Amino acid sequence: MEVPVRRYCWCGSGKYYENCHRDFDIRLKAFRRQGFRVPGHDLIKTPEQIEGIRRSAKLNVEVLDYVASNIRAGISTEEIDRWVYEYTVSHGGIPAPLHYEGFPKSVCTSRNDVVCHGIPSSKELLLDGDILNVDVSTVLGGYFSDSSRMFCIGNVPQAHRNLVDNALLCLKAGLSQIKPWAPIGNVGQAISDCARKFGYSVVREIGGHGIGLAFHEEPFVDHTAKAGAGMLMVPGMVFTIEPMINLGTRRFTIDRRNGWTIRTADGKASAQWEYQVLVTETGYEVLAW
Ligand code: MF3
Ligand code: CO
Repeated sequence: MEVPVRRYCWCGSGKYYENCHRDFDIRLKAFRRQGFRVPGHDLIKTPEQIEGIRRSAKLNVEVLDYVASNIRAGISTEEIDRWVYEYTVSHGGIPAPLHYEGFPKSVCTSRNDVVCHGIPSSKELLLDGDILNVDVSTVLGGYFSDSSRMFCIGNVPQAHRNLVDNALLCLKAGLSQIKPWAPIGNVGQAISDCARKFGYSVVREIGGHGIGLAFHEEPFVDHTAKAGAGMLMVPGMVFTIEPMINLGTRRFTIDRRNGWTIRTADGKASAQWEYQVLVTETGYEVLAW
């Protein structure tokens, strides 16, 4: 007599496979046969991993809250770097950017025409009228999190204030497209539609990314993608959405002296907000903002 083997599910739930992700795998396979890109099991976080990522993300949010309550005109971006380093380390975490591919600081600070990857400096002071992105990434218990916010310093010109506010609307338009079993290109389409409506451009070459067990995982989240394109979003995936929205051209330059700082090619302002999200059975959950 043949005894059926009851295998535990690969997701780490402790349940038997047939009571857990079996139907999920059948569905995944069917979509793959129809030509959709589907995530591998390595991109589907286990319940234990999701708990770890949630804790990391919570610290990431706290770091940004700390920055938000202390940022003001007259400080240097290096001071923000010090806050991020000290808050993170004193809460048991490690700033993910520090020494990442040679990045010299604990946080990215990107001011006015800097699109992203700005390096904090004691020589860079925040002046009345500046807009600044602070991009915080944290490792806690081996799990990675990543989010960023914009800050307006003092009296910001109306056009720049609008750019900051509308860039958040673009991110939220993208968020509204997150649902299980939909292609991630729907997110990019919503973001670029929103940006176009305001007359802004969207950076194409730099995008969001899977995250959790590493800083940057698959998929690449293209904020200029077309609806229907790209990998399917499925429950258990964690990724960032972080559109860089420009007042002028979407083209940019990379600083040749430090190899990091990305600036708009026309010198006009750029704004970026970044959320980290988990795809759920019914929609999504924002883990970090
Ligand atoms: N938070 C940025 C991202 O979204 C980090 C860039 S890498 C760094 O990927 F080294 F510059 F921090
Ligand atoms: Co990111």
